[in-house]
Amino acid sequence: MKQRILITSALPYANGPIHFGHIAGAYLPADCYARFERLLGKDVLYICGSDEYGIAITLSAELANRTPQAHVDFFHEVNNDLFKKLGISFDHYSRTTWHGHVEVVQAFFNDLNAAGYIEPKVENHLFSEEENRFLADRYVIGICPKCGYDKARGDECSKCAASYEATDLKNPKSKLTGSSLILKPSKHWYLRFDKFKDELTKWIEKKAWKENVVNFAKEYIKELKPRAITRDSAWGVPIPLKEAAGKVFYVWFDAPIGYISATKEWAELNKKPESWKNYWLDPKTKLVQFIGKDNIPFHTVFFPAMIMGQKQPYKLADEVPANEFLMLEGRQFSKSDGWYIDLSDFLQKYSADQIRYALASNAPENQDADFTWKDFQMRCNSELLGKLGNFVNRTLVFIKNNLEQKVPYKKHLEEIDKAFLLEISLSIDAAKEAYSHFKLRKASQVLIELAQKANIYFDYKKPWLLVKDHSKKDELNTTLSLCLDCIKALSLIAYPIIPKTALEMYEMLELKNFLEKKWDEIKNEVIVVGSKLAEPKILFRKIEDKEIEEEILKLKACKKEVNLPTSSFTELKNSIAFDDFEKIDLRVGQILKAENVANSKKLLKLEVDLGFEKRQIVSGIAHKIKADTLIGKKVIVVANLKPAKIMGIESQGMVLAAGNEELELPSIQNLPAGTIVS
Ligand code: 2FM
Ligand code: ZN
Repeated sequence: MKQRILITSALPYANGPIHFGHIAGAYLPADCYARFERLLGKDVLYICGSDEYGIAITLSAELANRTPQAHVDFFHEVNNDLFKKLGISFDHYSRTTWHGHVEVVQAFFNDLNAAGYIEPKVENHLFSEEENRFLADRYVIGICPKCGYDKARGDECSKCAASYEATDLKNPKSKLTGSSLILKPSKHWYLRFDKFKDELTKWIEKKAWKENVVNFAKEYIKELKPRAITRDSAWGVPIPLKEAAGKVFYVWFDAPIGYISATKEWAELNKKPESWKNYWLDPKTKLVQFIGKDNIPFHTVFFPAMIMGQKQPYKLADEVPANEFLMLEGRQFSKSDGWYIDLSDFLQKYSADQIRYALASNAPENQDADFTWKDFQMRCNSELLGKLGNFVNRTLVFIKNNLEQKVPYKKHLEEIDKAFLLEISLSIDAAKEAYSHFKLRKASQVLIELAQKANIYFDYKKPWLLVKDHSKKDELNTTLSLCLDCIKALSLIAYPIIPKTALEMYEMLELKNFLEKKWDEIKNEVIVVGSKLAEPKILFRKIEDKEIEEEILKLKACKKEVNLPTSSFTELKNSIAFDDFEKIDLRVGQILKAENVANSKKLLKLEVDLGFEKRQIVSGIAHKIKADTLIGKKVIVVANLKPAKIMGIESQGMVLAAGNEELELPSIQNLPAGTIVS
C-alpha cells in the first residue's frame, strides 16, 4: 500500500491578505513537499483552511465596520484566490466556520473535561459598561505598569516590551470607544497543560527536528501552566456547558483542531465520509505540519497535549518544519505601517513561478531572511532567465534551426559526456534528498547549478562549430541529446518549486503526462530519437531596472513615517535637577552579538562591549530592527542601571533608542567603547 502523508500548513487568519512572509514560512515549503511526495507516488493529502475565530478577527472586523462573518467571508475568498494564483496545491482549503468544526472541537473539550484536565476559575476581567461586554486584551489600551507609556496594548507594551495581563494596566480603556473599564468577575475554563509535562517531554525527546524547534518546545514544556481556553465573546465555537453561555473557545484551542475538521470536510466533499480516518487515525500515516516560528508552541506543545488528553487516537505530528521570518527590505512586513507588497498587484506583473523561486532560493530555513527587490530581480534575471531559461532556449532553438527540430541520437560518449551524464544523475539525487528534508534553498541551488553546468557543457562543445563539419555529426547529435536529457532532469528537479515552468519545459520535449509519472520513471525516461520536438517557448521575461526602481520607490512612498504633528507629541515629564541627571552613567557600547530571544517577538539579547567589561543587555527592539544589522554598531548604554530580569534573562543595562513605531538607535561613529556620554 502507498505510504500516506498528511501535510498541513498553518491556518491563516481570515482578517487580511497573506503576504510573502506567510508564503515563505508555511505555504510554499509545504506545497513543494506535497508536490515532491506526490511525484514519489505517495498518497498525499494536503490540508489547510482559514482560521476564522478569535479576537484578532472581531477587532479587525469592527475596525472595518463589518460583521465578523462578512469579514471572514471576504478574506477567506481573497486568500483562497491568492493561494490558487500562487499554485499552492491544497487538496482542500477549509475554514473554521465550517459547521462540522463545532462538533470536533466540543468533543475535544468534553473528553478533556471528563478526564479531569479542565478546571473552571472565577477571576476579575476588564468590563466595559458602555459596551456592556468584557473586553479581551487586544481591545484594551492603558498605561504600561512597567514604563508608564500611555498607549500600551492590553497584552504587551510596544515601548518597553513588557508583557503582562490586561488587568495590570493602569487606567485601562476600551481601544474602540475610549471608555473607562471596570473589573468584574467572570468564570473561565482552564486546561491543565501542566499535567502533560512528562508525556510531552518523552514525546519531544525522540524527535530529530530542527534543533531550535526541539529546544524551544522543551523550554516551553518546563514552564507549562494551566491556561484559559475560553473567552467572553459571541464569535467562536460555543462551550458545551450550560453555565458557559455567552462564552466561546479561545481561538488557539479551536484552530489546530481545524486541521482535523478540515480533513473531515474534505472526506465529506469527496463522498467518502470515513476516509479522513485513514489519515488522522492510522499510526502509519506521516503527519507533517508546516508553520512559521511564531506558531511553534501551539504545534509542538499545546495541540499535542490536547490530543494526548482526549480519547481519539489522533496522530501527533511526525515532523514540524518550522521556518524563521522573512523580512521586507530589512524590516518586518506590516500592512498597517505601509511596509508590504500587495500580492494581487504583484501577481499581475510577475509570475507565480518567479516569486516561488525567489522565496525558495532565499527561504528562511535556519535564520530570518530578507526579501529585497534587487535580490528578486537578480534571482529572476540572472538565475532563472540567465541560467535555466537560457540553456533550455539555446538548446531547443539550436535543434529547431539545425536538426529539423527532431530528437538527436547518442553515439560514442567521450569523458566529458560521461561526466555530464553523471552530473545530471547526481543532481537529481541531490534534489531528491533536499526535498525530502524540506531544504528548498538546497534544491534551488541544485537546480541552478545544474543549469549552469549545462551551459558550460554547451559552450565547451560548441555545437555551432560541430554543425559546420559533417564528420562531427555524431558528436553534434550526442551533445544535443545529452542537453535534452538535461532539460528533462531540470524539469524534474524544478517541478516542486516552479511547477508551471517545469511542465512547460517537459512538454517542449514533446513528453506527456508528467503528473501521472513517478520521480524515478521521469529520471529514467527515454526521449525517443527522431521524434519531433514542440515549439520552443520563452520561459521567463527579463525584469528591467526601471521596474525595480519603481517598486522600491512605491514601497518607500507607502511607508508611513511617524512624523507626528506637534500636538500629538508626548507631554514632557517633570523637570529634574542636574544632579539627578548626573546620576545616570551613559557610555558608548559596541554591540558584539545580537540574537532574538526565543518565544518573544520583541526582545533581543545583546552582548555589548563597554571597553572595560562586556555586558548582556536585553532590549525590546527585535520587532523593528534586525538583529544582524546591529553587530558592530556603537550605541549609547545606560551603564549604571540596576540589573533586571526580562523573561528570565538578566539585563545589565539599557541601550538608548529613539522612536516608538519606528525605532532608531542613536549611534556614535568614531569614539571607542567605554567613552562617557554627557
Ligand atoms: O498565526 C496564525 O496565523 C494562526 N492563524 C495560525 C493557526 S495554525 C493552526 F493551529 F490553526
Ligand atoms: Zn512599557
